[in-house]
Amino acid sequence: MSLLEIEDLRVTFTTADGDVHAVNGLSLNIDKGETLAIVGESGSGKSQTAFAAMGLLAKNGQATGQARFDGQDLLAMNTRQLNKIRSKDMAMIFQDPMTSLNPYLRVSDQMAEVLMLHQGLSKSAAVTEAVRMLDAVRIPDARARITMFPHEFSGGMRQRIMIAMSLLCQPRLLIADEPTTALDVTVQAQIMQLLGDIRQDFGTAIILITHDLGIVAGFCDRTLVMYGGQIMEEGPTDDIFSDPSHPYTSGLLKAVPRLDKETAELATIAGEPPDMSRLPAGCPFSPRCAQVLDNCRAERPSLEVTPGRRRACHLPVKEVA
Ligand SMILES: Nc1ncnc2c1ncn2[C@@H]1O[C@H](COP(=O)(O)OP(=O)(O)O)[C@@H](O)[C@H]1O
Ligand SMILES: [Mg+2]
Repeated sequence: MSLLEIEDLRVTFTTADGDVHAVNGLSLNIDKGETLAIVGESGSGKSQTAFAAMGLLAKNGQATGQARFDGQDLLAMNTRQLNKIRSKDMAMIFQDPMTSLNPYLRVSDQMAEVLMLHQGLSKSAAVTEAVRMLDAVRIPDARARITMFPHEFSGGMRQRIMIAMSLLCQPRLLIADEPTTALDVTVQAQIMQLLGDIRQDFGTAIILITHDLGIVAGFCDRTLVMYGGQIMEEGPTDDIFSDPSHPYTSGLLKAVPRLDKETAELATIAGEPPDMSRLPAGCPFSPRCAQVLDNCRAERPSLEVTPGRRRACHLPVKEVA
């Protein structure tokens, strides 16, 4: 049994302008200790996939399908059950650490509170454990600095504190939603290094959500590429990079800066991301696809499954440019 299994997930938002179809029949799974990247441009449904699984959808959103953590049906859980699983089993971190940190509480108080509530530790034992966790995420001089307020730390350090907070109850799955997007390149690399260490040291499975295919290489075992709330393709990260089987992936790859090649100009994919309330009948990417075929506009390609890989594209694999 996989740690997290999502099957035919659909997320629909009701709005005054009609229904927004944010996720359209997505299936994925992640095993213990594995790392999975979910990649796609902004608006492709990455965050809503995670929010649906975590029970964090906005009030106007509705999820159907299946999402199971360790066999337990997440979509059927009430708030109390979700709170329990969210604190102990699956944790989520965000682009902006201040969505998780309370600006008015000292770091020591907010970290200790989590441990007192969920692990039943005394205040002093909780603070000791919190310091240990801040050491683990390499906050220098953690013992002295733990009594500071979040705003007294730099952006990168705040991100480390949020990661430490999320790890306090040793979750088996960490969902990191654009954890480095707001950070400069050097700090970005440090945070990715830290997430790698966490996986090694704690055996935590990690879902990394990002619009930046560049940070996925060397970190994630598998990569799933999303567009228009659907899977375009999925496979081992090395294969996705060396041998993309979908024109969208290949377009994303051409937009990744590479150190080993002198690229004067990075190619971007022409056109706009789709309007999720008016998705085309066929492949959602067809209006922007450089290799579009006639039936791409009329007929949504089904998800082909081959060992280790999945793809949804009418174009034969060997013709993907
Ligand atoms: N509360 C909401 N009401 C209506 N539409 C929403 C709501 N939340 C998200 N959406 C829409 O869902 C789509 C997918 O969003 P999201 O999963 O956040 O994309 P991303 O891949 O950038 O994380 C977007 O078109 C977004 O506008
Ligand atoms: Mg997002």
